[in-house]
Amino acid sequence: VPVKVFSDRDEGSAFVAREIASLIKEKNKLNKTTVLGLATGSSPLLLYKELIRIHKEEGLSFKNVISFNLDEYYPMDHEDVNSYHRFMQENFFSHVDILPENVHIPDGILSREQIEGYCRDYDNKIKSLGGLDIQILGIGRSGHIGFNEPGSQAGDETRLVHLDEVTIEDAARDFGGKENVPRSAITMGVKSIMQAERVYLMAWGQGKAEVVKAAVEGPVTAELPASFLQNHPDALFVVDPAAGAQLS
Ligand code: F6R
Repeated sequence: VPVKVFSDRDEGSAFVAREIASLIKEKNKLNKTTVLGLATGSSPLLLYKELIRIHKEEGLSFKNVISFNLDEYYPMDHEDVNSYHRFMQENFFSHVDILPENVHIPDGILSREQIEGYCRDYDNKIKSLGGLDIQILGIGRSGHIGFNEPGSQAGDETRLVHLDEVTIEDAARDFGGKENVPRSAITMGVKSIMQAERVYLMAWGQGKAEVVKAAVEGPVTAELPASFLQNHPDALFVVDPAAGAQLS
């Protein structure tokens, strides 16, 4: 899978923002919708900041954008400080003109019985729109994409999953201790991610160097789900020098 090393995360994020903005502009001209797969966490923060700037300063409209977020903790209230619903509102959606009915984020308040049907609907909606035009990803130290943890298969669909121990440790700071981190999440499956037309995986900082090397240069294995991207026809790792430091 190709890698582009940018001088810093601002440059890398600006690159991905330009790619997204030009696709939206192109589709807007044709009166077509753009279907985006979106991530939360620290990795896409500057991307959202830049897209907001392009919206405000250059008039890029998100009215024809339909979005699907990768994941949400389960259980999780929408208003919780750690909810990905809240994250997306605060860091992106409330600053642009995307229509609320076009936003999709896995729901953390479903009952157990509702989850399976909800997940089928989530995938069917993506399919009915012709799949994702662009999928944005971060990468976890466990090798996860979305919350597809080690053991996830290439054909896995949207579903309820258990979080990996490493992921729980990394989330502990946000939740004020490991014991407060939800053990489960609802995540888009590897399948929809792999069917996206284009994929950008962003990784910054030395903490990601080891997992980036393994995902890019190691074997394709369910033990490191990000390695599945080696089989994607149009995926790109966008990294800073620290995250790319172990690449040969
Ligand atoms: C978030 C997600 C996760 C994160 C990954 C990296 O929606 O799907 O896979 O992208 O855990 O998190 P950060 O960016 O906080 O290092």
